[in-house]
Amino acid sequence: MMRNESPTPKVTFDENDFLTAASAGLKQSPRSIPPKFFYDARGSQLFDQICATPEYYPTRTETAILERYGAQMAGQIGASCVLIELGSGSASKTPLLLRHLSDDAIYVPIDICEPHLLHSTARLQTLFPQMVMRPLCADYTQLSALELRGNPAQRQVIFFPGSTIGNYAPDEAVQLLKQASQWVGADGGLLIGVDSKKLPERLNAAYNDAAGHTAAFNLNLLVRMQRELGAQLDTDSFSHYAFYNPTLGRIEMHLVSRYYQTIRLGEASFVFEAGETIHSENSYKYTAHEFEQLALAAGWHLKTTWSDAEGLFNVHYLSRSPAEPRHLLRFDTP
Ligand code: AVI
Repeated sequence: MMRNESPTPKVTFDENDFLTAASAGLKQSPRSIPPKFFYDARGSQLFDQICATPEYYPTRTETAILERYGAQMAGQIGASCVLIELGSGSASKTPLLLRHLSDDAIYVPIDICEPHLLHSTARLQTLFPQMVMRPLCADYTQLSALELRGNPAQRQVIFFPGSTIGNYAPDEAVQLLKQASQWVGADGGLLIGVDSKKLPERLNAAYNDAAGHTAAFNLNLLVRMQRELGAQLDTDSFSHYAFYNPTLGRIEMHLVSRYYQTIRLGEASFVFEAGETIHSENSYKYTAHEFEQLALAAGWHLKTTWSDAEGLFNVHYLSRSPAEPRHLLRFDTP
């Protein structure tokens, strides 16, 4: 159990969510399934393996930015804040920030996968025994309100690393950032990691790692459908397909049917032509300026951007108040 806390609150969500979403998504044209269903225990594990591949630069790069500028970030967000991490997962980068916060800071990790949430919070609690931690098992997109998790005098700051914001279409991203601004109140802040636009070769490699972890992660969606929903399908009859679409500024991930087949889910049957796909994920990439405009549409004002020497990845700090001073953009030097 975490320090000073009662058992982890669990926000219940619709048990049939996956069946409803998968059935509705397979009926659509083009077919799609929302990427949040990647993250069962196996999917979360595969995602951690993706993050460790040589091709997937975002994790390494963001980690280096946090390592180098974590103290500056903490100085800006306020060392005694309530830090609310969305989709905290294994929270591997979080210590790089927590180590610069003061003992009265409160950490609130939110994740949909309870075992992952509890395991990573317990690990962080051993690293920071004095800090109060209040894990919340929930789908953060379904949270309409987040009760004040600290003292009224403490600033609430959303920490949203990993460029997960890129997995939402731009209009959905604006809605989510608007919602986040309501959770934290007028003096709240947002510290967010965003993957940058870059050459397609680099992006294509990052989503097609040689070890095949991204392929396994994508195909795990079908494994889950079989196991949890009783779907009748052969996972070997689909292949992983991921590519950068420069016109839309996004990686698209698909599951491609290798031949003509029929799969069954619940009462329904779905016929796939050879080459027909299930669109399983988008990962939008933004320049710093594009992201500033997107966040502004949600009521957030950019204060500082920290980046790496190659400009592969940006970490932005935004506040709800236009009055707070704007700092220089800081770029690491090679
Ligand atoms: C979690 N999210 C930011 C990852 C991404 O890069 O869009 C998910 C991922 N999909 C394939 N590789 C990684």
